[in-house]
Amino acid sequence: MNSLASKLSKAAAIALIGGLLSACSAPEETATNDAAGDSAFNTELTVKDVMALVLEPASDILWDSGGWVLDASGYEELYPTTDEGWDYVRAQAAVVVESGNMLALPGRAEDGDAWMIYAEGLSSAGILAMQAAATHNEEDFFQAGAQLYSVCTACHQAYNPDILNNFDDED
Ligand code: HEC
Repeated sequence: MNSLASKLSKAAAIALIGGLLSACSAPEETATNDAAGDSAFNTELTVKDVMALVLEPASDILWDSGGWVLDASGYEELYPTTDEGWDYVRAQAAVVVESGNMLALPGRAEDGDAWMIYAEGLSSAGILAMQAAATHNEEDFFQAGAQLYSVCTACHQAYNPDILNNFDDED
């Protein structure tokens, strides 16, 4: 029984080291992944498409559900008032979480450094929004929306400074 325990802990140690090693090598792999990596994913949608068709619509719903409209019309209480309403925004937050992964795919990622951090930041903000929606926590939901907005802005400033961050003004 002693040996089982030591086998188990050896297995755990190997798994841990393996995890650490793959965590360390992952960014390099992504950065150097070219033809071979690309073929595993369908990245026919460009970064621009993912922004306009996937990420922005989902994000807009989150922001519109939190009253954090950033224009002169000021602050409005627009939080969901029903379970269904919260479920709906939680699903939109899930789209944001996965959008972080979509942007991190080889074929979309612009590099293995800052880009990956912003992509991960997107997913983290989405997770916070999902948790807040699950517990109907308005304050946390608001904070998640603010965090999300800052990730969008930071990445655009780094990679596409020409973009105006006025996503909310269109509607
Ligand atoms: C990892 C970096 C990154 C993050 C994070 C990011 N964007 Fe972008 N975004 C870009 C880049 C790069 C472009 C320019 C794409 C192009 O024109 O080829 C862009 C373009 C856009 C556009 C213009 C699309 C068009 O049709 O021209 C919108 C809208 C947009 N992003 C919304 C958002 C929103 C909303 C968020 C946050 C919820 C966000 N983005 C987060 C990198 C990012």
